[in-house]
Amino acid sequence: MNKILETKDLHAAYGQSTILWGVDMQVKRKEVTTIMGRNGVGKTTLMRTIMGLLKTTEGDIQFNEDNIKSYPTYKRAQRGIGYVPQGREIIPKLTVYENILIGTEALPSGPKTFDEDEIYSLFPILKTFRNRMGGNLSGGQQQQLAIARALVGKPQLLILDEPTEGIQPSITLEIADVLKKLVAERDMSILLVEQKLDFAKILTDQYFIMDRGKVVRNFTKENADYDELKSYLSV
Ligand SMILES: Nc1ncnc2c1ncn2[C@@H]1O[C@H](COP(=O)(O)OP(=O)(O)OP(=O)(O)O)[C@@H](O)[C@H]1O
Ligand SMILES: [Mg+2]
Repeated sequence: MNKILETKDLHAAYGQSTILWGVDMQVKRKEVTTIMGRNGVGKTTLMRTIMGLLKTTEGDIQFNEDNIKSYPTYKRAQRGIGYVPQGREIIPKLTVYENILIGTEALPSGPKTFDEDEIYSLFPILKTFRNRMGGNLSGGQQQQLAIARALVGKPQLLILDEPTEGIQPSITLEIADVLKKLVAERDMSILLVEQKLDFAKILTDQYFIMDRGKVVRNFTKENADYDELKSYLSV
């Protein structure tokens, strides 16, 4: 099957307050799919609902052959969804190595270890800072750490929520290179939330634009109308 993830008529709410009002979107295998839209339209809520951190109140989430909407978060992770949350959520008082190790909890079985050389070949800075506290890293380094933590769970689909937020342009380009490599060499599929169009353009195969809890536009990189797309972004 060509699609790795699909949401159908997806609704989700915080308490009585409905945020997602029927989201339909698809992620194709070995592609980068990017969700864009202004602050507060529900992008993070959509990612949290896909991860099971927020309950699906209506609709479905299809991942590979399974409808995962009722699965607990750990089971979604074990099935192969890696999550890099907005704001990174590094544990400041654990070392870089210990932060990465947490990601191995997503492995389905066997010893919870990871190949350090493999991870440090993608992010050499994490080798240099292996024994430093996570909280002492720069924003960009923490972002790389959060991606490394997700990768050691060996995801088929990697979700990244605004990975460029508040980090230096030079590091965002390094991150873009790594993400490209993951798709090209490891057959990974990526679901990206991004507000910076310049960064999104480097990677994206398909765009879904959200407004007020729904998808309002869908473009491929070939037919994207960037002027229209920009009209849905915060200035
Ligand atoms: N924990 C929460 N409890 C109640 N409402 C929330 C909670 N988190 C987010 N919301 C509300 O849900 C709506 C969507 O928020 P969400 O974080 O999904 O937006 P977003 O598109 O990711 O925005 P941003 O671009 O700023 O990250 C907003 O109106 C927000 O105030
Ligand atoms: Mg958000």
